Amino acid sequence: MASPLIAPSVLAADFGNLQRDVEMIDRSVADWVHVDIMDGTFVPNFSMGIPVVQAIRRHTKKPLDVHLMIMTPEHHVEAFRKAGADRICVHVEVCANLHRNIQQIKALGCAAGVAINPHTPLISLENILVDVDHICVMSVNPGFGAQTFIENTYAKVKQLKKMITDLGSSALIEIDGGVSMKNASALLSAGADVLVAGNFVFSAADPEAAIQGLKAL
Ligand code: DX5
Ligand code: ZN
Repeated sequence: MASPLIAPSVLAADFGNLQRDVEMIDRSVADWVHVDIMDGTFVPNFSMGIPVVQAIRRHTKKPLDVHLMIMTPEHHVEAFRKAGADRICVHVEVCANLHRNIQQIKALGCAAGVAINPHTPLISLENILVDVDHICVMSVNPGFGAQTFIENTYAKVKQLKKMITDLGSSALIEIDGGVSMKNASALLSAGADVLVAGNFVFSAADPEAAIQGLKAL
């Protein structure tokens, strides 16, 4: 098993010390910086918008993995790309024209991801799996950090891994929500490639060491 890609989630950072916390991620062995965008409609919370993404961009050279938990993402992907996104992920639940949305993101020069909520069947992804760079499997209901990991995720990841392999897709499997040392190894065994971690990293006494711990699995 290759070493996982680690994407600390800025949502769990201290927004009053955002530069400090982004620089910590930049120094660490993390691979991507996960940035959660919430619109208060698709999910019952707000997080941050374009100016904050621009600010994060100024303090790290690592790829920004922007997770759009918003309605009508097609209206906003270009602005997030201009703000510095390297990867943009949209939710299957809000995209009536998902294939078009993926092409739009790629045409902007970004890697394209699709996120899927805990209740959404994987079959809804079958016909776009060869077109995407990653699938973000939500292991909590999106909208908040520090929620409890949903155990059904293991079975879902195994099933998704098989679909990806059978189709010859190169899509990475990213896990988002409640990831910690308690579940990370089992997630990797199930087929995960990328681990997002918010609370686990930022509530640690030594966040950089927490990132290193996940990376070393
Ligand atoms: C949840 C977000 C996650 C969140 C993960 O809606 O998409 O990226 O920041 O945070 P933890 O790791 O604390 O569950
Ligand atoms: Zn996220």
